[in-house]
Formats: sequence, structure tokens, C-alpha cells
Amino acid sequence: MIRTTAPQIELCHLHRVFDQTHAVHDVSFEVYAGEVFGYIGPNGAGKTTSMRILATLDEPTAGDALVDGFSVVEDPDRVRRRLGFMPDYFGTYHNVDVREYLDFFARAYGLAGRERTTAIESVMEFTHLDDLAHKPIDSLSKGMKQRLCLGRTMIHDPSVLVLDEPAAGLDPRARIELREMIARLADMGKAVLISSHILTELAEICDRVGILEQGRLLAVGSVAEISAGVTIRSNVRVRVLQDVERLRQWLAARDDIDELHVEENVATFTHQADREAALLRAIVEAGFEVVEFGAKHKSLEDVFLHVTEGRVQ
Ligand SMILES: Nc1ncnc2c1ncn2[C@@H]1O[C@H](COP(=O)(O)OP(=O)(O)OP(=O)(O)O)[C@@H](O)[C@H]1O
Ligand SMILES: [Mg+2]
Repeated sequence: MIRTTAPQIELCHLHRVFDQTHAVHDVSFEVYAGEVFGYIGPNGAGKTTSMRILATLDEPTAGDALVDGFSVVEDPDRVRRRLGFMPDYFGTYHNVDVREYLDFFARAYGLAGRERTTAIESVMEFTHLDDLAHKPIDSLSKGMKQRLCLGRTMIHDPSVLVLDEPAAGLDPRARIELREMIARLADMGKAVLISSHILTELAEICDRVGILEQGRLLAVGSVAEISAGVTIRSNVRVRVLQDVERLRQWLAARDDIDELHVEENVATFTHQADREAALLRAIVEAGFEVVEFGAKHKSLEDVFLHVTEGRVQ
């Protein structure tokens, strides 16, 4: 795709080192207006650390992050005005209702008078919180709190939204509602960076994703592009009438078979997807009496697991 506009979010060789941990290691990517970018990685990958740097709550050890062209290091005030950050926790608030909560954040962004009222009302409408205006925050469900937190993130009408695991803990309906809201935000021209552990959770709404592990960006692109770069494997199951031990030895001697298990007359293993027909032919030609053969392609989630390999730090 040819882009004519400058990116709204730009990470430029970003590093963040804590005492022993290189939490973010030379990460660079861009997110454009109207785009939803999924930031995917296992626990400890460095998602929150890089998002907090974007939100000016922490500083890079090296490199920079730009929002609408402004550096989080050089120009944090300008960054804050343009960016809304939804953290992955919701603090405790006693004796505060939904409207008061939003009013507090609107004031914190310097909104006053009619402008503040309009901002609060439009956020409550967007997040379907109108009916809950006077409900105490302590009594909100997880899904309601997430909507309120998103509302607070949008109160100053930022052009960039950074959402840290907004779908965590939501039921399926609430997830769908959240997805619709995120799609609407992108339609409004905002750049949305959204994190998750789970690729499938974001696959449908993200224009592009970046896969992060141990602070390093392992892949960036559309889900289709990333999947294409991975040799997808399938789970295969073969039942033979007899000779299962000989089948085990025959399979174990091949280098295209992994994770081989044999139980009773059934062998299960993984094999490169789309090569199953040739494998079945070879098994039959080797003289085995195959009575059952099944192959199931691994899911998108497996693609992610394949890319990340489960390294932790
Ligand atoms: N303030 C800190 N001091 C020391 N180490 C930290 C600090 N914050 C984060 N880390 C370390 O940096 C690494 C990345 O953590 P981070 O919270 O960014 O990961 P994450 O991708 O958000 O993980 P999760 O999915 O669990 O939220 C981890 O190893 C973590 O222990
Ligand atoms: Mg995190």
C-alpha cells in the first residue's frame, strides 16, 4: 500500500533496559491514521513497557517514540494532548459515579464549560454508558469498567489510542462490542495500537499486527502475510490394523515428522501442512494397512506459537 500521510505512531529503534532485563529491544514500527495495529506477545514480551513509553509514563533507554511526529522525550506535553492510553488495570474509586469519573478526567485535560459537557456526553454515548451515568464505579461489572476506561481514554478526543489488553476478561458479547468500538474509532481516522496475548482475538480487527517476544519484534505485517511466512504444520492421526511398532520406527526415521506418539494402534504426530496426501501414499506403499487417516491444520494461534517459540525472560 502506498501511504501519503505521515505515521501517527512511530517507534524508532526503541530500547528499554531495566536492571537485568532488556524489556524492549530495538523495536521499530509505524501506525497510520485510520489503522488498527495489534501488538501481540506472550507475558513479559515488553508490550506494556513500550506502551507506557508511548504514553510518556516511562522513558526509553535508547531510541525514541513519536506521536503525530512529536517525540515522547523532547515533547511529552504535545504527545499527551494527542494520545489516549488505556492501561491494563482499573484503579479503585470509592464514592465516584460514572459521570463524575469522566468529569474528573475531562477537567484533568483542561476541558471546561460547554466543551466539557459535550465531551462527557459524546463519550458516554459512544461507550453505551448513558444509562449508567449515576452508577457508582465500585459496582460496575468488568465489561462496564472496560467501557468506562475506554471512554476516559477518549475524553480529550486524541488522534492516537493506545489500549493495553482491553479485551482481557471480557465475555464474548463484550468482546464483540469492544471490537465494534475499535473499528468505529479507526473509521473516525484515529490510529489505534492495541495489545493482546491472543492473536485470534485481534486478527479480525487489525489491519496489521506486530509479534513481540523477549522485547524483540519478530514479525510485522497483515495476519495473512505473517501466516504465509510460516510453514504451517498439521496434526496427523494414523490408525493401522497391525504393525504399529514398525510404523512408529518408520515414522521416527523420517525427518518431516515431529511430536510422534503411539498409543494402541494409533500414531499421532505433526507434519508439514498440505503434504499429507503424499505421506499417506508413502505409508500405504510401505505396506501398512491404514484404516484411518486424518490431518487437521493448525490454527492461527499455532502460527503465533510457532513464530514466538515460547521463549521467556
Ligand atoms: N519497572 C520494572 N522494573 C523491572 N523490570 C520490569 C519493569 N517493568 C517491566 N519489567 C520487565 O520487563 C519485561 C517486559 O514486561 P512488560 O510488562 O512490558 O511485558 P508485557 O508484554 O506487557 O507482558 P504481559 O502480557 O504479562 O502484560 C518483563 O520481563 C518484566 O519483568
Ligand atoms: Mg502487559
